[in-house]
Amino acid sequence: MSLANPGSASPIARFDRETTLRPDLRHDSLSSGSFRSATTPLIQVQGLAKTYRTARGDLTLFQNLNLEVHAGEMVAVVGQSGAGKSTLLHILGALDAPSAGTVYCASTNVAKLSAREAAVFRNREIGYVWQFHYLLPEFNALENVAMPLLARGQQKHEALAVATKWLSEVGLQDRADHRPGELSGGEQQRVALARALVNNPRLLLADEPTGDLDETTAGQVFSLIERLHQTHNLTSLLVTHNLELAARCTRVLRLENGRLASATATH
Ligand SMILES: Nc1ncnc2c1ncn2[C@@H]1O[C@H](COP(=O)(O)OP(=O)(O)OP(=O)(O)O)[C@@H](O)[C@H]1O
Ligand SMILES: [Mg+2]
Repeated sequence: MSLANPGSASPIARFDRETTLRPDLRHDSLSSGSFRSATTPLIQVQGLAKTYRTARGDLTLFQNLNLEVHAGEMVAVVGQSGAGKSTLLHILGALDAPSAGTVYCASTNVAKLSAREAAVFRNREIGYVWQFHYLLPEFNALENVAMPLLARGQQKHEALAVATKWLSEVGLQDRADHRPGELSGGEQQRVALARALVNNPRLLLADEPTGDLDETTAGQVFSLIERLHQTHNLTSLLVTHNLELAARCTRVLRLENGRLASATATH
């Protein structure tokens, strides 16, 4: 398998594969009317509805969900298993479509994007981190970090140079040639963070990014997310079941009965 053609069924592989850019699909050529001024919230969701049609009938997660996140905020989303937290992040990241409502994310009306435009949007605007790292096992840490740059057509030597800088940012410069199987869980998640941010997105969407880690390592990875959030002027939305970590965010929202409400991290 070549470095420029990663093949795997994992979400991140889909993320990267769909993101190979055509030169004619430049930022400013996405659907007219999709963009808003920089002064509006970076995430603005109004009247979001989401119903899954299943063999057992309709499953409605949201009927009228609203959310605003301003540039620079680091917002935690908490809530019971099955409340729809991952679904919400998928919709914001243009990985799933809303049933109704408007969803502006990183100044883009994600509900209006074609599949190709959604891939471009994800590559440019969104850093996405999952509970599982989804690194490609046959590539080393450096190559994994470089993958989104290669997907957008950057020359290999340039991509590897940028990836080297990002591996240093997450403290793993001496693990560049390790494959994922030769990294600890915390190190794997650091590599996943570097890969998520290598394209300099404005928005970080993280779905239980420390959920698979022991308490100490989870705290360290969360501290790294906090540092990257600040130093790279990110706007971050993090789903977590860890209320102590949620309390370190600038705001905590609880997803319950299809609505988001302000919450303290203690109830
Ligand atoms: N593609 C789908 N088709 C049908 N139902 C789905 C689909 N994706 C998710 N669901 C259902 O929607 C509900 C919400 O799922 P979701 O993964 O968003 O929950 P969550 O809040 O992230 O839970 P957890 O904390 O366990 O990760 C669940 O009941 C799930 O079974
Ligand atoms: Mg989930």
